[in-house]
Amino acid sequence: MTAQSSMTVTVTGAAGQIGYALLFRIASGAMLGPDTRVRLRLLEIPAAVRAAEGTALELSDCAFAPLDSVDVTDRATSAFDGADVALLVGARPRSAGMERGDLLEANAGIFGPQGRAINDHAADGVRVLVVGNPANTNALIAAANAPDVPRDRFTAMTRLDHNRAVAQLAAKLGCRTADVEGVTIWGNHSASQYPDVTNATAGGQPVSSLVDEAWLESEFIPRVAKRGAEIIDVRGASSAASAASAAIDHVRDWVHGTPGRWTSAGVVSDGSYGVPEGLVSSFPVQAVDGRWEIMQGLDVPDFSRRRIEASVAELEAERDAVRVLGLLG
Ligand code: NAD
Ligand code: LMR
Repeated sequence: MTAQSSMTVTVTGAAGQIGYALLFRIASGAMLGPDTRVRLRLLEIPAAVRAAEGTALELSDCAFAPLDSVDVTDRATSAFDGADVALLVGARPRSAGMERGDLLEANAGIFGPQGRAINDHAADGVRVLVVGNPANTNALIAAANAPDVPRDRFTAMTRLDHNRAVAQLAAKLGCRTADVEGVTIWGNHSASQYPDVTNATAGGQPVSSLVDEAWLESEFIPRVAKRGAEIIDVRGASSAASAASAAIDHVRDWVHGTPGRWTSAGVVSDGSYGVPEGLVSSFPVQAVDGRWEIMQGLDVPDFSRRRIEASVAELEAERDAVRVLGLLG
């Protein structure tokens, strides 16, 4: 997918926190570029349609040049009609003390019907980013319910974890975030994820030569993996603007490409690095011609392998749990 002159973007959970931080940036052109006109379709539950309509009024008041129209609905079939990009944000966020796994059953019921609506109504080239948690398994459910849409069009957001890892490294090393390259988030968007710096560089120097292992193991990895809980604790609500920003980054890179660098995204595994085929797992990826490609041939030492396996085991357990609930079609 390259950016077209005009695209339909569907956002679910439009009246929520992330929706409010996301919609104005999409409408301003930050996601698809200033030359792509945007038709926004906002999906909400009936009780929140009025609030989404209020957001639509504010979008109008911004007079954004790329924004062609905003429609608000509580019907998935209309919301996904002709969608080129679908951002599945709408779901219940966790509150203090909950693990993301606790949301599995609460949110799983949303993504089957939305997958079917995407299958039946979206544009042929639709690209889907699942943000709502548990994002990887929700993406698996949506993909399983959209048999006519190629699997590689369904992705889950781990870009926020990636950005968090880059920011933590830049802060530690006293460099700019733009100087940090080659970071990877592997596995699940949960505390089991593995933020990996094995192949990372800062200003061209291997990160492994700039920081000690003890810091990586006891501070960096848990800090990044548990950052969502830290935000909930400190802010009193789950991350919103940073999540919206990561969603913009993910779709912008998917559409416009990532020449000469890689990032992280939850994509359907093709079996690379021993991750079972079909699971939606985070990998090092580059975007080429509108497709995410898993970077091949990277060094995965034993320490990394064990951590990837642990997170993948959690993804397998989530998959098995939703399969028992009959959510995989
Ligand atoms: P929120 O509660 O502020 O908003 C969620 C919105 O979704 C609400 O307005 C709700 O009415 C709506 N909604 C619920 N069911 C829906 C449905 N079936 N169709 C359409 N809309 C529906 O929550 P938030 O803070 O915006 O977070 C949304 C989701 O994103 C949560 O699951 C959260 O855990 C997740 N999240 C993921 C990441 C990530 O990195 N992947 C980061 C932050 C948050
Ligand atoms: C995050 O990583 O900030 C989100 O997934 C919210 C959460 O529940 O951790």
